[in-house]
Amino acid sequence: MRKVGIIVASDKCYEGLREDKSGKAIAQVVSNAGFDVAEIVIVPDEFDRLKNAILYFTDELEVPLVLTTGGTGFSQRDVTPEATKAVIEREAQGIAEAIRAKSLEFTNRAMLSRAVAGLRKNSLIINLPGSEKAVREALDIILDAVKHGLDILLGEASECARV
Ligand code: MTE
Repeated sequence: MRKVGIIVASDKCYEGLREDKSGKAIAQVVSNAGFDVAEIVIVPDEFDRLKNAILYFTDELEVPLVLTTGGTGFSQRDVTPEATKAVIEREAQGIAEAIRAKSLEFTNRAMLSRAVAGLRKNSLIINLPGSEKAVREALDIILDAVKHGLDILLGEASECARV
């Protein structure tokens, strides 16, 4: 089973002032989709902490998929996309575009998410928005295609069979 690293970017969850619901929701959804959750790491909305958490999963644990939740909006403390851009080697813009485009059907505030996605070595890193509702909606949009993308990334599928 493919491993997934989950990063919750939230000052409030980190300080224990709010229960983490979105990280747990991600764990539940990806487990049901056949992934194995390596760990859920909760960090404050700080560039270096986020960057190091991503590198922990990509370079130390070498998990193929890293999902972040939170810190993608307009608050001054929201820096998850910046930390992600600092570590990725190749962008995977279509994933973030798909989440935003389809999510507009649920809420026009989807346009406020600055989420990005990209590849570092053998890992795909995807930013998801911060609420439990948003992560469930976003994963529903991307998970099937992401599985195929990981097959290609890891060399287990050489061609995009048309579906
Ligand atoms: N995307 C989906 N699918 N569903 C949502 O409810 N909420 C939006 C947006 N994307 C939302 C969504 C809202 S209200 C905001 S402010 C932005 O994500 C950024 O959220 P974040 O700062 O928690 O990452």
